[in-house]
Amino acid sequence: MCGIFAYLNYRVPRTRKEIFETLVKGLLRLEYRGYDSAGIAVDGPRKTATDNNNNNTICLIKTKGKVKNLDEELCKKDSLDLDEELNTHFGIAHTRWATHGEPSPVNSHPHRSDKTNEFVVVHNGIITNYKELKAYLINKGYEFESETDTEVIPKLTKYVYDNRENDSITFSTVVERVIQQLEGAFALVFKSRHFPSEVVSTRRGSPLLIGVRCEQELMTDNIPIQYNSAHFIEGVQEKNSHNRPDSSSAINSVGDGRPVEYYFASDASAIIEHTNKVLYLEDNDVAVVTGGKLSIHRVNREAGEDPVRAIQTLQMELQQIMKGNFDAFMQKEIFEQPESVVNTMRGRICFDTSTVILGGLKDHLKEIKRCRRLIVIGCGTSFHAAVATRQVLEELTELSVMVELASDFLDRNTPVFRDDVCFFISQSGETADTLMALRYCKGQGALTVGITNTVGSSICRETDCGVHVNAGPEIGVASTKAYTSQFVALTMFGLMMSEDRLSLQQRRLEIIEGFRVLPELIKKVLALDMKIKAIADELYEQKSLLVMGRGFHYATCLEGALKIKEITYMHSEGILAGELKHGPLALIDKDMPVIMIIMRDACYSKCQNALQQVIARSGRPIILCCQDDPEINQMAYHTIELPHTVDCLQGILSVIPLQLLSFHLAVLRGFDVDFPRNLAKSVTVE
Ligand code: M6R
Repeated sequence: MCGIFAYLNYRVPRTRKEIFETLVKGLLRLEYRGYDSAGIAVDGPRKTATDNNNNNTICLIKTKGKVKNLDEELCKKDSLDLDEELNTHFGIAHTRWATHGEPSPVNSHPHRSDKTNEFVVVHNGIITNYKELKAYLINKGYEFESETDTEVIPKLTKYVYDNRENDSITFSTVVERVIQQLEGAFALVFKSRHFPSEVVSTRRGSPLLIGVRCEQELMTDNIPIQYNSAHFIEGVQEKNSHNRPDSSSAINSVGDGRPVEYYFASDASAIIEHTNKVLYLEDNDVAVVTGGKLSIHRVNREAGEDPVRAIQTLQMELQQIMKGNFDAFMQKEIFEQPESVVNTMRGRICFDTSTVILGGLKDHLKEIKRCRRLIVIGCGTSFHAAVATRQVLEELTELSVMVELASDFLDRNTPVFRDDVCFFISQSGETADTLMALRYCKGQGALTVGITNTVGSSICRETDCGVHVNAGPEIGVASTKAYTSQFVALTMFGLMMSEDRLSLQQRRLEIIEGFRVLPELIKKVLALDMKIKAIADELYEQKSLLVMGRGFHYATCLEGALKIKEITYMHSEGILAGELKHGPLALIDKDMPVIMIIMRDACYSKCQNALQQVIARSGRPIILCCQDDPEINQMAYHTIELPHTVDCLQGILSVIPLQLLSFHLAVLRGFDVDFPRNLAKSVTVE
């Protein structure tokens, strides 16, 4: 999905080249979100003769494709003196993921008000009333050049500016008048040659944060904190939680005229290498920088209504978001799973006392226990985590558990009641469908619980309570470690709910023991990488790949097939083995590659029946099975033998070979593993 990065250096001399490099680097950090074009706006050379407005200029550099293409474009701009030192300067940058209009330089951001670039803007989100606004502006004589919804924003900005009542109008007032006309979702950063080195940024429905770097202590107006994400803080996480406000840093303004640098971005990965001091804007906040001073106010504010935002200290390390020795982020993230599952459990499971406490939920536990049913909602991989844990949640909570795809849930206007508890599973915490479902359930009066990997995300802020899965930043578009951490977090919730159920004590103990040894077992599965690569060598030219299983492994089939189609572009289907004879059996012959998951659990003999049916049609199954299973070994074309664990956690182990397989298949087929075509990491549009 689109990414925003902007950089202001105030009384911190930087050459134009350094500024350009900072902007490009910011975009590179956002690449993982998925994009198809990129652009930058920096100050151009000052005109010698004054025109009607002023003699500032803005230079736009926009390209289709990779961010690095911007370098080539920059070289073509002869008029730009790259060595010129700019004491104070504001530059904006963007990676675009096409929604309205094909990927092309003209459709990419920053978009401009007119050919002289009076106002330029970068935008994440969608303007739903752009057609009406465009028609109005065309009628007023404004000319459009792109097919995007975004372009109405700079045009409308110029319209408001051109029709100002007097020359003392501020940049912020112009922008506020503009956003009052916009419908839809947006994070916006504006630059103007009428207001050089001033910034106006705002958001409604799309995330935006600001990093602050200055040499001296921040100057603050010392207004008390108003901050509401504390429900995510818990146990050991409390010490180093990413979202814990520091009471000394509650502000509504920063900067006192001394040198300072500001970084604006759609997520923290673009900022963290510059500063770990950030503040997150809330919907309808307007953040303004003039004369190096950052202030925040609300759109349509009454006097005295300026909000207070906490400056937070991010704990994320740059190294956490770099590839290290791996070829791709996805590969790195697959191999991080022995640690990421530990991070999900850390401070929550006590193995000595066999207790589980999720600090973010403990105050709501009574209410959850009284509920009528649990509804677990998500999209893609996050939905699969819900499918994977449904059975154990039903068993441990003794409640009815519905699992729902967010988009379908909304389409059906599903009945939701005050005594329902609705879980929203999302790695990014920004997925539009999941967020919409959350708002819908809240409107129905249900208790809402977020299970996210992204601190400060919209889902994390808008839910009543929640759990951070703490898997660490996930950069690869294909979700891997977030899935296993979601799996762990949901199962831990089941354990917490069943603590006082005598009849479930034995079961709880075996699951907790399973969690204790899980990291070691994951390492054993990862050690099968070369064997899996050899299987990929045989399969990579195939067109199709079926993945079949049942019970605790149905979710693994869905998730494995999603991984394969997402990054290898092969057709792949996750099939419930019980459905085989109801249709999919017709696909089986000697040429159709079939992966079957047959573990020693309650479904073992039923899975063996399915295996017989596949073999009877000359199928050559590749079987994921338990170690030392001679019966299965005999019938398989290939086996991938996995260490055995408690049935409800076995799915964490069975999904990893499919993550690895999809990775190797994609590499062998020559595709960019981390940035699959047509996909984005964070799907912030419905
Ligand atoms: O950030 P979320 O977990 O809400 O994202 C949901 C899906 O878009 C996501 O899981 C998607 O299916 C992944 N790319 C799959 O690997």
